[in-house]
Amino acid sequence: MSATAKKTAPSAEDIRALKGTTPIVSLTAYTTPMARFMDEHCDFVLVGDSVGMVLHGLTSTLGVTMEMMIMHGQAVARGLQRAMMVIDMPFGSYEESPQQAFRNAARLMAETGAGAVKLEGGVEMAETIRFLVTRGIPVMAHIGLTPQSVNTLGGYKVQGRDDQADTVLADARAVANAGAFSVVLEKVPQSLADKITADIAIPTIGIGASAGCDGQILVVDDMLGFFTAFKAKFVKRYADLGHDAEAAIAAYAAEVRARAFPAAEHVFADQAPSKSNKK
Ligand code: KIV
Repeated sequence: MSATAKKTAPSAEDIRALKGTTPIVSLTAYTTPMARFMDEHCDFVLVGDSVGMVLHGLTSTLGVTMEMMIMHGQAVARGLQRAMMVIDMPFGSYEESPQQAFRNAARLMAETGAGAVKLEGGVEMAETIRFLVTRGIPVMAHIGLTPQSVNTLGGYKVQGRDDQADTVLADARAVANAGAFSVVLEKVPQSLADKITADIAIPTIGIGASAGCDGQILVVDDMLGFFTAFKAKFVKRYADLGHDAEAAIAAYAAEVRARAFPAAEHVFADQAPSKSNKK
């Protein structure tokens, strides 16, 4: 699409209406160039708080701040013409009270232009979700493995196995009933993801869940192979750009040391080139 043909991004309602129709495609993004690459291909782009781990070298998402989310949200917004932008509420910005959540969600949307916020939690966040939605803030929920709760979950484990399944199902029902327009299901067993998808009226967006979810999301640096600190089982690497980047950097370093770069075509003559002989 040309830069001048700006379409209206889908709204939360448009995304909700995709349930049971076509699979919803989404990825995370944190920068303008990456947002541009995915704009044509994704229904929505998430400015995820995973930014803290994949771009800032943090060991969890707990250190991500409102300021970081706003800066990356603004960058992503500059790269999007047609996909919806959803932005994560960082740890500590919404859990205290619905009022705190509203204040920070409104700031994230006003300062970045995001069409919705995402927050982690199920039954315990239902009141907050209802508070936001009834005041004009579309909410995407996130249940199952909620990385901001890594310290109380005891690690990045699969959630909802065996007798935990009813807890995750109750979370899904609670966020749907509270007015969330969609819900991310992270790292839950496939059969439970399928059961939830059939049970609730809003789209499920799977990550480590099931191909039967209404949509899928991956962290872009994972699927492109830029993030190499570890690879979760649910990540499929569609490219190995981290390896390619390192090889390119090594080739550059070797050429600089050998004085092979810059070559004749990269340097400038004393005289400006004539129009017919541009050198
Ligand atoms: O922050 C993030 O990238 C996310 C996705 C894993 C859904 O929340």
